Amino acid sequence: MIIDLAFTPHELGKKELAGKSVVVVDALRATTTVTVGLENGAAAFIPVATIEEAREWVAANPDYLLAGERRAMPLEGFHLGNSPRDYRPDKVRGKTIVMTTTNGTQALVAAGGGAEVFIGSFLNLGALCERLIEAERDTLIACSGEKDLFCLEDTVCGGAIVERLEKTGIPLIKTDAASSAKILYEQCEGNVYGMLCTCEWGVYLEGLGLGKDVRFCAQVDSSKLVPVYRDGRIILDR
Ligand code: MLT
Repeated sequence: MIIDLAFTPHELGKKELAGKSVVVVDALRATTTVTVGLENGAAAFIPVATIEEAREWVAANPDYLLAGERRAMPLEGFHLGNSPRDYRPDKVRGKTIVMTTTNGTQALVAAGGGAEVFIGSFLNLGALCERLIEAERDTLIACSGEKDLFCLEDTVCGGAIVERLEKTGIPLIKTDAASSAKILYEQCEGNVYGMLCTCEWGVYLEGLGLGKDVRFCAQVDSSKLVPVYRDGRIILDR
């Protein structure tokens, strides 16, 4: 398997996605939130780039829920923000959720050309790697970044995926981007929470009183689920 990594969604435009497994990562918080929402019974997420698009979806489908954030804050008239702790079974069970976030849903939309697109976070590292090995394709990790710039937490999460894959012993050819992400991960292996608390977005979330979300997003291997993004929807296919 060749394993590559894009530090920002912008880079996806310069890489070949066709025929590859693509893993979208927004460790703080969107891909964590999607995983939790599905785990708690949501039927599907529809990721969209803009607030207007999200509103249009729900105007046409009044039983759908509107979800998302800008600058981590919930949006006016939306049913849910982007805090994984809010996606409780009583709120999301059976619901289709239209979601727009600053970076995560943008990355998902940009990653749509992959043969299969998976949702990755610290929560599902082990299950995700099993799925990637099973898929037997070259893999591209798509970090959501911050407004098309590098961010530490997604790159470190990408590095954790590279490290896990390598540990299984499968033949792995790493690009320089994938190797550098792994090196970064090795610096904070064993203290993912500490890294999430000190990266820029983690500090910002803490400052908003959302420190519990940061802790939530640091729960390595707490989920066995690997959501897939297919035909415009994020679902569980098994
Ligand atoms: C994003 O998509 O940019 C994030 O998930 C931001 C957040 O923490 O809400």
